[in-house]
Parts: sequence; structure tokens; C-alpha cells
Amino acid sequence: MAAGLSYKFKAQCLIFTVILGLSFFSTLAELQRFEHPTNADGSLNFLVVGDWGRKGAYNQSKVAHQMGRVGEKLNINFIISTGDNFYEDGLTGIEDTAFEESFSKLYTAKSLQKQWYNVLGNHDYRGDVVAQLSPILKMIDSRWLCLRSFILNADFVEFFFVDTTPFVDNYFNDPKDHVYDWRGVLPRTDYIRNLVKDVDSALKESTAKWKIVVGHHTIRSIGHHGDTQELVDQLLPILEANNVDLYVNGHDHCLEHISSTVSPIQFLTSGGGSKAWRGDIHMGQDGVKFYYDGQGFVSAEVTETHAKIVFYDISGKVLHKWSASKQGSSAAM
Ligand SMILES: *[C@@H]1O[C@H](CO)[C@@H](O)[C@H](O)[C@H]1NC(C)=O
Repeated sequence: MAAGLSYKFKAQCLIFTVILGLSFFSTLAELQRFEHPTNADGSLNFLVVGDWGRKGAYNQSKVAHQMGRVGEKLNINFIISTGDNFYEDGLTGIEDTAFEESFSKLYTAKSLQKQWYNVLGNHDYRGDVVAQLSPILKMIDSRWLCLRSFILNADFVEFFFVDTTPFVDNYFNDPKDHVYDWRGVLPRTDYIRNLVKDVDSALKESTAKWKIVVGHHTIRSIGHHGDTQELVDQLLPILEANNVDLYVNGHDHCLEHISSTVSPIQFLTSGGGSKAWRGDIHMGQDGVKFYYDGQGFVSAEVTETHAKIVFYDISGKVLHKWSASKQGSSAAM
């Protein structure tokens, strides 16, 4: 790709960079919004995968294959990625062939040729973050959409994608930790304060029946990383205050479902897109409904009144299901 970049492609890149630069200041104030239509029968179906980009290794290809099969069966509308899209260190630039090798040439099933809504994980921040966010990637593969934080409205469901990596203290304070690309994030305290404020007001304004928040890091987890205390302290209170139904994340390379004991929020981890089998579980949390240490992914089927979540392993076997109904504004299980 690098040597073969055409003049036309470079010119388009330049134009996109200028447009991006111009729109940067105008979007600082609030989260960018996108719309996705629901199906004519009043349903919305999607898959969630996380922690995946390893050029097919560690069963990534097998997860992709099963995603294709389930995606076909459910006639999915789109795919959500919970981040850590490219290992080990994000993308090196817009010309990094990992984009094709881990994404375009990997998720090839017909049913996966839909819009992908991606957030960034901590590993993505170890590379060229600006490249991974660049609209130029959409020219290479039209499915790609990755922003730090944004809102997706799909009629009766509203999704709030939150950039969780900047919340984690260790990435900033631990001198032995990796090097992160913090362009666009500093000063950090302003960035987090504005983000929390924007998510809070977007949640308050939302009239959607179902509110789903997506981030890379865990809030509740019994896996390797466990809870992310910074998010428990700074993000969870606004999710609880605004009747969020689901918090969906990756980061721990496993599949898990934990129910909140104080609110209706369900915590879902879909971090089994490739390398898994970490082997360490921290028992002792309340509300644990399901934990699987291996690879897999999650499907969701949502209507105005029902939501059904299913967890699958790499053979397509159903490992766990959860569903909920809503009459009026109160949830019942
Ligand atoms: C691939 O998946 C199988 C079945 O779950 C598992 O036994 C195997 O360890 C996995 N391989 C890797 C490299 O994770």
C-alpha cells in the first residue's frame, strides 16, 4: 500500500485532513451523532465483538466465521467493536496493512458487510490514534467508523460510545507502562470532565426506550483486569442516574454477564475476539450470571418491548442468554 499510494488517493487524504481539521473545533462542544434505521418489522439486531485484531491468530478467524453465521441468521443491522481493534500497538498509520489483515480480509462473511461502530481500546492508544480515527480508513473499507466518543440513534435504542482509556490513571502515572498517543486528550482533566458532562447530558436528553453505553474498559468484571475503579467512580454514577440498561465493554479477554445489585444495569463483557484463556478469575462479586474464559462474541436482538442477548463460543454454541421486557417505562425480567 505504502509505495503504491496514488496521487488521487493522496489528494483525497489531504482534503479529508483539511475537513477533519475544520470540523474538529465545531465538534468539541458536544458528541457527534449518527442515525441507523431499524428494520421494517420493528427490530434491531447487532453483534458485539472486542479485543480482536491479530491477523486471524488466536482463533480470531474462527470467531469471525461464527459471527458471519449468526449475523446471517439474525440479519444483523450492524456490528459494534468494544475496542483493542489492532494488536499489539494499534495502527502505525493509515497505510498500516494490519487494517486489511485484521479487519477487511478477516470479517469477510456477507452478513458482516455492514456498518461497524468502533471505539478505541488501550492498545489502540499505543499506536497512531489519529490514523485509526481518520476518515481515510473509510475509503479503504467503507464499513469502518471509529470515533473516540459518539452517539448512535436507532429509533427506540440509543447507544452512547465512550472513550474510556483516558480515565485510567496507570496509563498516565506508571513510568513502567507503555507509551500512549495522547494527542487530542490533553489536558486530561478537562477532557474527562467534558466527556462525563457530555455523556450525562446526552443521556438526560435521550427519549429512547433502551439506553446502551459502550466502552472498552470494564466497570464490573471478575476477569484478569477486574473492575475499572476510575469508571466505577466517575462514569457509573451517571449511568445509574439515567436508567441505562446495558454497559457493554471489552478489555478482559472473556465473555461475561454481571447484574448490578443496585440498579437495572447489566454489565456485559465481549472481549473474546481473539486471544483468551487467561486463566485468572476473581470470584466474590455479587450478581455474576455468567463467565467464560475463552473466545466468542455476543448478539443482541432488540424491539421496543424486548431485548435478548446471547453469548456464543467459537463453534457457534450458545453459552448464555439473557432477556428483558419493558412495559411502559419499567423493566421486568
Ligand atoms: C481456540 O479455541 C479452542 C476451542 O475453544 C481452544 O481449545 C484453543 O485453546 C483456542 N486456541 C487459542 C490459541 O486460543
